[in-house]
Amino acid sequence: MRYKEFGKTGMKVSEMALGTWGIGGAGWDDNPEEIRIDAICTAVENGVNFIDTAPAYNAGAAECLVGKALKQSGTRQRVIVATKCGNFYMGNGTYVRDGHYDKIIQQCDDSLKNLQTDYIDLMLIHWPDVNTDFAETADALNALKKSGKVLHIGVSNFTREQMEEIGQYCTLEAYQPQYSMVVRTNEEQMKWAAEQGMGVMTYGSLGGGILTGAFRKLTTFEATDSRNRFYKHFQEPMFSKVMKVLEVMDRISADRDNVPLSQIALNWCAQKEFVSSCIVGAQSRRKIEENCAAYQWMLTSEEIALLDAAIEQYLVEQ
Ligand SMILES: NC(=O)c1ccc[n+]([C@@H]2O[C@H](COP(=O)([O-])OP(=O)(O)OC[C@H]3O[C@@H](n4cnc5c(N)ncnc54)[C@H](OP(=O)(O)O)[C@@H]3O)[C@@H](O)[C@H]2O)c1
Repeated sequence: MRYKEFGKTGMKVSEMALGTWGIGGAGWDDNPEEIRIDAICTAVENGVNFIDTAPAYNAGAAECLVGKALKQSGTRQRVIVATKCGNFYMGNGTYVRDGHYDKIIQQCDDSLKNLQTDYIDLMLIHWPDVNTDFAETADALNALKKSGKVLHIGVSNFTREQMEEIGQYCTLEAYQPQYSMVVRTNEEQMKWAAEQGMGVMTYGSLGGGILTGAFRKLTTFEATDSRNRFYKHFQEPMFSKVMKVLEVMDRISADRDNVPLSQIALNWCAQKEFVSSCIVGAQSRRKIEENCAAYQWMLTSEEIALLDAAIEQYLVEQ
């Protein structure tokens, strides 16, 4: 595993963070609980010291699983736990944003219980709630930090303008945007956030799985599968364009003794100087070991240039 400073927080995070949206039961590849707990423990055994979760992931189920795995393995103290607030899962794929003071405080208390801990290393606002004054949401985060329930604070899915606005009321220490070879729209604001001293953790770093090469034919997911809604590149016209980029990844893989495509996608992301850590969702020991092994080697600048040229050629409107 490789590690980087996480902005100005003083925390040193693994360049791979374990994502728990899928593990919590997001509606795809649901595995028995013992497999999902084993997945969390496998990540920690392989040097991952950063876990990303949220109360919105299956209404607290993901947090509960993280809490159980860390308790069972006795590893809470050496893992940096990031969770979120201000977003509530209502069932049937529906979420409601609410950044009111009382809601944030209550949700944090619930997260502490779910996670079986008395502190959260990093608390992020999950999505901006533009119907609540950012000053009010920031007050809640400041209060949580003052009480010691939360050690660091940040945001996810905010624009630069929204970060500047809330930054008037609290000191942002982290930013979590979607970012991968197939979604580069947030790149400029990620660079800006890193320059401000924030730790930057990317989500969807494998493009929701498409960058692993596991999908070579257009796939119809079940109606309940979150990928229908969240990752548009599983649908045409993006799907065929991504397949072209995968051909370049296939060539790099062949030249490197068939390294898994997931490792190429992760290194492309992790090697950016403005990225501190890539969040990857995976629910089994095999996938997690494969992803962690990405950090035993690095792409050359020539390989990165080849990948960037393919992205430019096929995914330019992204
Ligand atoms: N802040 C936000 O709004 C936000 C939004 C989305 C996600 N996130 C966070 O980011 C995390 C990662 O995002 P994500 O899970 O949506 O997408 P992702 O990490 O890009 O991709 C996850 C998908 O890739 C598959 N996968 C992982 N490693 C693989 C491998 N080596 N070979 C084949 N398939 C592999 C997973 O399979 P299995 O799951 O079946 O193992 C899953 O289907 C989430 O879990 C969550 O913590 C945050």
